[in-house]
Amino acid sequence: MSKERAEKDTVAYKVEGGIAWVRFNRPEKRNCMSPKLNRQMMRVLDELEFDDAAGVLVLTGEGDAWSAGMDLKEYFRETEAKGMGAIRQSQREAYGWWRRLRWYQKPTIAMVNGWCFGGGYGPLYACDIAVAAEEATFGLSEINWGILPGGGATKVASDLMPMRKAMYHAMLGENIDGRTAEAWGLVTEAVPLSGLRNRVAEIAARLLEKNPVALKATKDAVRRVMDMTYDNAEDFLVRAQEAANSFDNEGRKEGIRQFIDDKSYKPGLAAYDKTKQKK
Ligand code: COA
Repeated sequence: MSKERAEKDTVAYKVEGGIAWVRFNRPEKRNCMSPKLNRQMMRVLDELEFDDAAGVLVLTGEGDAWSAGMDLKEYFRETEAKGMGAIRQSQREAYGWWRRLRWYQKPTIAMVNGWCFGGGYGPLYACDIAVAAEEATFGLSEINWGILPGGGATKVASDLMPMRKAMYHAMLGENIDGRTAEAWGLVTEAVPLSGLRNRVAEIAARLLEKNPVALKATKDAVRRVMDMTYDNAEDFLVRAQEAANSFDNEGRKEGIRQFIDDKSYKPGLAAYDKTKQKK
């Protein structure tokens, strides 16, 4: 039995070159999510959301796991023993930071370095982009210990995967590797573990070049339009662009100026130089 970790040590992070590298930090428990970890993760997200030093947030796991899902002992058994009030509180703490991450101010990347089970699908889905190691292991293991994949996990599978794959995945509790997770739509792409960090750093660097107001508007728009009719989406997107303009009206004008007047870049091939933009 390993010694219990203090709440503040359940999540670790460092900010480097514009990227906040946030780690689930319970490797001895395969980074499963306890109420302590869930509370600490919310604090870390709070600290980083409006920190100008961090333009992109990467969520990864210490050791050989991304996250082995909910903590069966501390999240399920111990809170159940305390009754419904404690159950609902621990659900709020978990779902709360996943929701916060889904609508995070900054672009987010899940860097899935190993085990990713059950409840782990909540934060996986919350991240805008997910890059997995080909060697990573994904599973809806709930059926193997006798519950349905709750906490959003079934919704994640059926939103991201074709129905036949989602159904098989949820009912059989068989694991898939990173390549299959990519083929089934659970992650954006899978790369060998040895190249995972470099690939994520490369994507983060590309995101850091873009206009941050446009990025936030874009990531929210992709999620919002998913369950809208075409007409509702069309209307929403007009208004979302106009709202973004009120935060950053100079950005798109500068983008057009550098292409049409300066001829210094081509939007079809790269991003405009935002360092030349008037504030
Ligand atoms: N909840 C609680 N404890 C967990 C856990 C979880 N989800 N996942 C791992 N742990 C604990 C183990 O109990 C063990 O604790 P101990 O050292 O005090 O005995 C420790 O983490 C290491 O786990 P272990 O099973 O020995 O590691 P492994 O590398 O051999 O296997 C897994 C890794 C992920 C395959 C295995 O731990 C597992 O099946 N975990 C449960 C996954 C799951 O069903 N998650 C869904 C929850 S919604």
